[in-house]
Amino acid sequence: MEYAVQPVEAAAGELRDPNVAPRNAGYGKAFCRAAFDSLHVAIGGSAKPCCEFKGEIGSLKETSLEELWHSESLKDLRAKMLRGERDAGCRKCYDAEDAGGVSLRDRYNAGDKLNGDFDEQTNLADPVLRTLDIRFSNLCNLSCRTCGPDASTKWYADAKRLNWWKLDTHALNETFTSKSAALEALGPALETIEGIYFAGGEPLLHEGHYAVLQDLIDRGRTDVRLNYNSNLTELRLGKLNVLPFWSKFRSISIGASIDGHQRQGELIREGLSWDKFAANVATLRQQCPHADIYFAITVSIFNILSLPLLCQHLRAIDPAGSAQFRFNLLLEPDHYNIQLLPGYMKADAARRLASFAEEFALQAQIRPVIDYMMFEDRSDQIERFRSNTLRLDEVRNQNTAKIIPELAPLLRESPPRKLKRLAKWRLRALAQALSR
Ligand SMILES: C[S@@+](CC[C@H](N)C(=O)[O-])C[C@H]1O[C@@H](n2cnc3c(N)ncnc32)[C@H](O)[C@@H]1O
Ligand code: SF4
Repeated sequence: MEYAVQPVEAAAGELRDPNVAPRNAGYGKAFCRAAFDSLHVAIGGSAKPCCEFKGEIGSLKETSLEELWHSESLKDLRAKMLRGERDAGCRKCYDAEDAGGVSLRDRYNAGDKLNGDFDEQTNLADPVLRTLDIRFSNLCNLSCRTCGPDASTKWYADAKRLNWWKLDTHALNETFTSKSAALEALGPALETIEGIYFAGGEPLLHEGHYAVLQDLIDRGRTDVRLNYNSNLTELRLGKLNVLPFWSKFRSISIGASIDGHQRQGELIREGLSWDKFAANVATLRQQCPHADIYFAITVSIFNILSLPLLCQHLRAIDPAGSAQFRFNLLLEPDHYNIQLLPGYMKADAARRLASFAEEFALQAQIRPVIDYMMFEDRSDQIERFRSNTLRLDEVRNQNTAKIIPELAPLLRESPPRKLKRLAKWRLRALAQALSR
């Protein structure tokens, strides 16, 4: 099938994802349910309506959940949304939507983030905290290329080798000082909450996560809906096995993060074993049949040209689940954003995606990805993509051009360009050393 490459109109009104409700239905163009029934506690304790929000409304280290929920800044944000005014903190979502993509706001408004039905009566007039989105720490066993030391301890050593600025002195950043501090801070909410979304870091590697599950079981609150993003590399933490915990809860949804098939996946998600990931998906299907498992794919320059292949491989390893996919657009960093591809590569990607979408009946989910990619020309970022990728390849002793040959044209370097890149990195290392 031929796909005509055309720019999309900004602010497309209707979403094409059937899992997502029509945009802006009901409460106006700035409204987001996240501010009315959910709270995100980021790594380190800062609280905000959701993980995409720029800025914070306070810190759980200093303020209780109850006070944060009723804080003036959150009240102001809600009022602004109801007036139809876009807050600067929500810019990432509005920008993604204006470019034709599906935003986190869309997903919240569609009830896709475990907050069930939205009750206008109570939730607009007197909002009730119904779901928590909680990150215990940045502890992680992978160092995915699109991620970084803020979300993964495993990234820290490479970030040091890369002479990244503004690196914390410690790799680990904990939200709570201890398991009991976590339970104390979250306890009142655990009594009434309807759902919890766990991410991280890697949630299955954090003991605070298991402590919360045990606390919920002890309270008889196994009706709480559990929602995860996990790299699904480990189903155990020491003696703790997550499966017996999950078997007690009624509703579990697991976004298994995966960004490439086999060696491509292992390059993008450093530390991953594709075979182990596949085995863990099979174990879950077998031993936790009531869990809803979907594949969470972060769509970046690394996988946009091989998404069809990835989805075919996922179908092969997970025939039982007939492989459900969720495509999350990478918005940052700019130099991994799919909008940076040169026009001829975008056209190639769009053709591949359109025919794959037809074959897999995934048009509703793929169309916004294509629209977003086509929306803006950010090829000025290609040089940064090249230099960052080649530098990380050196540090990790990897070869992206070989493992993802579709990207090879963007990674080729003339000798003068290579000299310039190396000189830049040396200068940077020197400046770093002098600033210490
Ligand atoms: C930060 S991870 C934390 C949870 C868990 N460790 C995992 O990988 O699922 C949450 C999700 O963010 C995705 N992600 C990684 N880098 C990203 C980026 N730059 N932009 C958007 N999402 C990203 C991951 O692929 C994953 O699906
Ligand atoms: S597994 Fe998740 S937290 Fe860990 S590096 Fe990858 S994306 Fe980041």
